[in-house]
Amino acid sequence: MNLYLLMTAIFVLMAALMAADASLASFTLVPWFNGLRWLRVHLITLGVMTETIFGLLPAIVAIHAGRPRPKFRWDIWLTLNIGLLTLLIGIPIINQALIFVGGTLIFIATTLLIIQLRGMYTLKQAGAVKENGRIRHGRKFYIAGLSYFLLGIIVGTGLWLGWSNWLRIKTPVEVHIHANNWGFLTLVFAGLLVDMYPTWAKRPLAWPRSITPIFWMLTIGALGLVIGPWVKSNYFSVPGIILFLTATFWLLLNVIKPLWGDRVAWLQPGIWHLVTAYFWILAPVLVAPLIILGVPGFPGAGIEQNAPQALVYGWALQFGYAFIPFFFYRLFLPHKPARLGGSWFSLVTVNLGGFFLWASIFLADYQALLHGTAYLLWTLSIIPIALTLWRIARDGLTGLDDGTVLLESAAAID
Ligand code: HEM
Repeated sequence: MNLYLLMTAIFVLMAALMAADASLASFTLVPWFNGLRWLRVHLITLGVMTETIFGLLPAIVAIHAGRPRPKFRWDIWLTLNIGLLTLLIGIPIINQALIFVGGTLIFIATTLLIIQLRGMYTLKQAGAVKENGRIRHGRKFYIAGLSYFLLGIIVGTGLWLGWSNWLRIKTPVEVHIHANNWGFLTLVFAGLLVDMYPTWAKRPLAWPRSITPIFWMLTIGALGLVIGPWVKSNYFSVPGIILFLTATFWLLLNVIKPLWGDRVAWLQPGIWHLVTAYFWILAPVLVAPLIILGVPGFPGAGIEQNAPQALVYGWALQFGYAFIPFFFYRLFLPHKPARLGGSWFSLVTVNLGGFFLWASIFLADYQALLHGTAYLLWTLSIIPIALTLWRIARDGLTGLDDGTVLLESAAAID
């Protein structure tokens, strides 16, 4: 049984509660609810996403290397979760000691995971395995992404410990957001698409030889988008944006082209979640030039203040709506056919939520109403996903009691 996925299911429920809290706070219906902003974002990024990623990557990499399923690493699970719980206590009360301990433990867990993944290809490195004519590349995306996460942890932990001064970071929150989203999650999601798309779409990506150039463009693009706000120079941000945009569109075309014209494939809400999610990471990048050029009347500050929320709910969480249930099926109910998660209801509500959040940036007179509606829609979009995950976990754990699942889930990732 994968303890990380159990934590994921708990964090999905908490994320739904936090989104509802944010909606009620915006509607000022319950004034004592103050919409803890940090929790609103990090229950999804540090909770749902990080738990799932830590729970899945070792098994995915091992299977692609033809290696046995790796043993459960209690040291990584404990350092990650004790670190997370310490941060969940320390950040809302801004307790520097707890923030430092929590951040350090998560840093250690991430370092241990990188070492574990790096150690998994020794046997097969020389003769990279060709499967159905394709070489699987996910591992390098995961390691590069987790390395950006290490940087995101240092900057995030240091945000309220005064580290940004001696690290000479000009705009630390932006560096933190960029390292974690354009670095960590972008590269890990791209790695998952590279490794799992053939299983999800039952066909290969359009241009297998584009995977390595996409990897380097995303990795170097993210570096430009981290150094740019670090030294406050567009000489890094602009090339970073161009590399990131080109690689992301190339990756998306790799996903969409093989499905083009296949009506049956597009009847799966999960495929729409995977593709439309990218609109919400491209939106802030596409408007960035207008902010950089300082176009008059354009709410640059409003976008910088609020766009991260649409990024986390519209892109990161929505991408999770598709792939997290798939792995829940694989690990909790391996004898049942696994499919991408999501529904037409979650697809419409999560994307509408994004539009309302962005509208709240441009229509200041209706800001609270639109912001509250955005979070209400996001709350509604999480509910069917949370119910699906708990149903799968419950059925799987019931299976565990009578011993049927134990044997089957071991080799069921791919
Ligand atoms: C140890 C890990 C982390 C720590 C200590 C941390 C800490 C912080 C802190 C202190 C803030 C500033 C909050 C504020 O000024 O209001 C922040 C903001 C933010 N963080 Fe993190 N963070 C961590 C991990 C992550 C991860 C993994 C992601 C995304 C993948 C992320 C995404 C964000 C975003 C988007 C914001 C801006 C929130 C907003 O504007 O509402 N963080 N983080």
